[in-house]
Amino acid sequence: MSIWKTKPLSVLLNEASESEKGLKRTLSSRSLVALGIGAIIGAGLFSLTGIAAAEHAGPAVTLSFILAAVGCAFAGLCYAEFASMIPVAGSAYTYSYATMGEFMAWIIGWDLVLEYALGAATVGVSWSRYLLELLNKYGIHLPHNFICSPWETLKLSDGTIIEGGIINLPAILIVSLLSLLLIRGTKESASINNVLVIVKIIVVIMFIVLGWSFIDTANYTPYIPENTGIKGQFGWSGIAAGAGTVFFAFIGFDAVSTAAQEAKNPQKGMPIGILGSLVICTILYVLFAHVMTGLVPYYEFAGDAKPAATAFAKTGYNFLQTGLIVAILAGYTSVMLVMLMGQSRVFYTMSKDGLLPSFFSEIHSKFRTPWKTNIFFMVFVSLFAGFVPVSDLGHMVSIGTLLAFVLVCIGVLVMRKKMPDAPRSFKTPFVPYVPIAGVLICLYLMYSLPYESWIRLVIWMLLGVVIYFIYGKKNSKLNNPDK
Ligand code: ALA
Repeated sequence: MSIWKTKPLSVLLNEASESEKGLKRTLSSRSLVALGIGAIIGAGLFSLTGIAAAEHAGPAVTLSFILAAVGCAFAGLCYAEFASMIPVAGSAYTYSYATMGEFMAWIIGWDLVLEYALGAATVGVSWSRYLLELLNKYGIHLPHNFICSPWETLKLSDGTIIEGGIINLPAILIVSLLSLLLIRGTKESASINNVLVIVKIIVVIMFIVLGWSFIDTANYTPYIPENTGIKGQFGWSGIAAGAGTVFFAFIGFDAVSTAAQEAKNPQKGMPIGILGSLVICTILYVLFAHVMTGLVPYYEFAGDAKPAATAFAKTGYNFLQTGLIVAILAGYTSVMLVMLMGQSRVFYTMSKDGLLPSFFSEIHSKFRTPWKTNIFFMVFVSLFAGFVPVSDLGHMVSIGTLLAFVLVCIGVLVMRKKMPDAPRSFKTPFVPYVPIAGVLICLYLMYSLPYESWIRLVIWMLLGVVIYFIYGKKNSKLNNPDK
């Protein structure tokens, strides 16, 4: 019995073809790109761009986006190779099971909770900010104690500052509603997602095009504000810290790989879906950030959790402002849906492998969804969305996801060595350089994140190690075939 035992590729592919009886291959390459964009464009762009500009990079937040995109592109190439080779649900967790063995697979699966569950919580908090903005427009003001978590400072659009409330109820409400929706099934979600993606892209393009003529170029001077003497506060280290923050905006392209079993032609569709969505989003992000920091001086975004609305107000197109907020709210919904669904799929797969109790893979008799996992994460994600400040959440998500990317890049190197001849229709170019560059850039972005997020990451991962040795190792189906 070894914690390094790998799951043979043939077993994985067999499991995939068995479960294929239930899953239909309906997603074209175009739908996969749409799925990617649906998961990608969200709070990172509409909320964190302002924080990254105000606290770290100034107008050079555009460079932060480019740096983060380069790291994602290298990792994306590695994801694409895996997804075309092992087109099985479970994403990075499954890839590690095949390459680096059970323990590493568990580590990555545990780590993905930070990406998916806390990712959904982060977007939920940001969603609540835009909701407040919308309600304020109609003269509806919710009690301060119930719209803000205890350790958060919130700046409302009328200038009121809230220094910590009791609970963020709107965030809990949206997380709960979407979790319940997921329990009912996700059959129509791809077509709803296509509509939401079109709305999101229209909003981003509208912001760029309409905002462009209102840019005040004085806001770009200095383009890279001088470092304050503290690492990460402007200057080049600020651009890196900004990249660590806005990295969140790219998270989600890997979610395309979780749909590998539903792709019509995964060998071709996976690389197109992953890399296509990444390229489109990068172009839109850089232009969006350029316009946003051109409309409003970067320091005015400090503490502002709905900077896109603040910046757009400068255009004077007030009648479009409400539409912008509604579209952002709708767009966030699709991100949260993908994240919550991705989380339940990963825990479902881990539970099927015996690494987690069977509770997590119990399927609802009528809706055919892993409903107990959905309820569990409804509570888990709500606790974070209700009580933790958005920037702490965002940093946790970024550091957790970066760790997953590092492990996937290493996985490609291991796979090339262990199984050089296994068929893979997409090959990461320039191996070993691309995976190594992916590892280095992701590690650099992790290094640029606040110290506290490292501590939290270490605590979370240690907890995972303890649970593995208490439960997973003894119950894993691979290591205990007779159980
Ligand atoms: N990339 C997703 C977002 O920005 C997680 O909301």
